[in-house]
Amino acid sequence: MNASQVLAQFQATGVQTCFHDRHIDPQIYAGLDGTNWRLADYEARGGYKALRKILTEGLTPDQVIAEVKSSGLRGRGGAGFPTGLKWSFMPRQFPGQKYLVCNSDEGEPGTCKDRDILQFNPHIVIEGMAIAAYAMGISVGYNYIHGEIFQTYDRFEEALEEARAAGYLGDKIMGSGYNFQLHAAHGFGAYICGEETALLESLEGKKGQPRFKPPFPASFGLYGKPTTINNTETFAAVPWIINNGGQAYLECGKPNNGGTKIYSVSGDVELPGNYEVPMGTPFSKLLELAGGVRKGRTLKAVIPGGSSAPVLPADIMMSCTMDYDSIAKAGSMLGSGAVIVMDDSRSMVESLKRLSYFYMHESCGQCTPCREGTGWLWRLVDRIDRGVGKASDMDLLNSVADNIQGRTICALGDAAAMPVRAMIKHFRHEFEAKIPGYVPKAPAKA
Ligand SMILES: Cc1cc2nc3c(=O)[nH]c(=O)nc-3n(C[C@H](O)[C@H](O)[C@H](O)COP(=O)(O)O)c2cc1C
Repeated sequence: MNASQVLAQFQATGVQTCFHDRHIDPQIYAGLDGTNWRLADYEARGGYKALRKILTEGLTPDQVIAEVKSSGLRGRGGAGFPTGLKWSFMPRQFPGQKYLVCNSDEGEPGTCKDRDILQFNPHIVIEGMAIAAYAMGISVGYNYIHGEIFQTYDRFEEALEEARAAGYLGDKIMGSGYNFQLHAAHGFGAYICGEETALLESLEGKKGQPRFKPPFPASFGLYGKPTTINNTETFAAVPWIINNGGQAYLECGKPNNGGTKIYSVSGDVELPGNYEVPMGTPFSKLLELAGGVRKGRTLKAVIPGGSSAPVLPADIMMSCTMDYDSIAKAGSMLGSGAVIVMDDSRSMVESLKRLSYFYMHESCGQCTPCREGTGWLWRLVDRIDRGVGKASDMDLLNSVADNIQGRTICALGDAAAMPVRAMIKHFRHEFEAKIPGYVPKAPAKA
């Protein structure tokens, strides 16, 4: 079955998907065709071998954590925090209940990889979580799934049932002394619920608003108990690491950027979709996999890591490789790996207006700079776009962004401010051109 057949099949069932079958060295998407997501299929692909290896060969939790550390796996939820290191923060001797949480909230515009992992390969996440829980001595876990994706939630529930029936979850897993209960939780469809502490609040049945940190979830998490939270794709990477070794995973990518990464390529490309490629793949190669810029047009700009990542002009982007370090060096972030491609027909003012509307809408309202500032950002960009902006609006935009960034409980404020600064830095002339009578300021005298 090819990608378009897969797409047609899922569209027929009402499930929107962007899975694509053009991958390089896939680890998570290997061999998937949209129909082979069940337990028997996963086992036929070597599924649950890693969990079995740990339990039957008696790998200690420390050995599992060491393997993950050596893999160079960095959290795929956005911040790229080293996963093995995060796991080592969990207080293993804590006497009470500890929790493991999978973040499948995925609300960042442009990102659609986690729902496809859950849709096409749900057992890989279950196995990854079971291994993580073993490594950290955790007996209860939750997968928090975005509230607007119903079929994916149902599918994950079905996969959980299969795993429980086969003895991969529950008490005395595979005849060992290891117990792990895993549940699915359906979220509320709010972007802020992807922020890890807002997610925990929401999971507890409260309004999804971020908590002050510290304390961090490793000491005060779900119901006030030690909790580790990782992204769906992060967990999905774990079975491969255990089966093949941390070093092999690291070598798939480049130093400090191990393994493969799934990029959700959207916007002005011929074949938008999710592509799994090794870390360090040139951006130009990824663009080629996605069919190139639509209708043969010219590449203008790219947002390389989801809507909160600063935009990069085409020439900078074409010299980047797709990994945390290269994109950071170019002045942006790999973030969640959502690559939004813009061709030369796109107005940067309009694009920023769209982004700013999103952040205004999704601000939870808890912190004044974010609640008020995101509204101001949108209003300013909107009036510039409508041709009624004032000459002072350029400075005002920067000043509003300054007053949000770094002044809020969570990073949603930064996520709203950073695109503004980058758009002005790289495409200031487009904004100025829309302001009636705009006269650029004379450069300051030395
Ligand atoms: C506003 C906001 C939204 C976020 N949304 C998500 C999300 O949808 N999925 C996710 O995994 N991480 C999201 N994060 C990052 C999480 O807070 C957290 O860092 C991540 O789940 C940790 O997993 P990782 O270490 O595997 O990346 C978000 C952060 C912020 C500030």
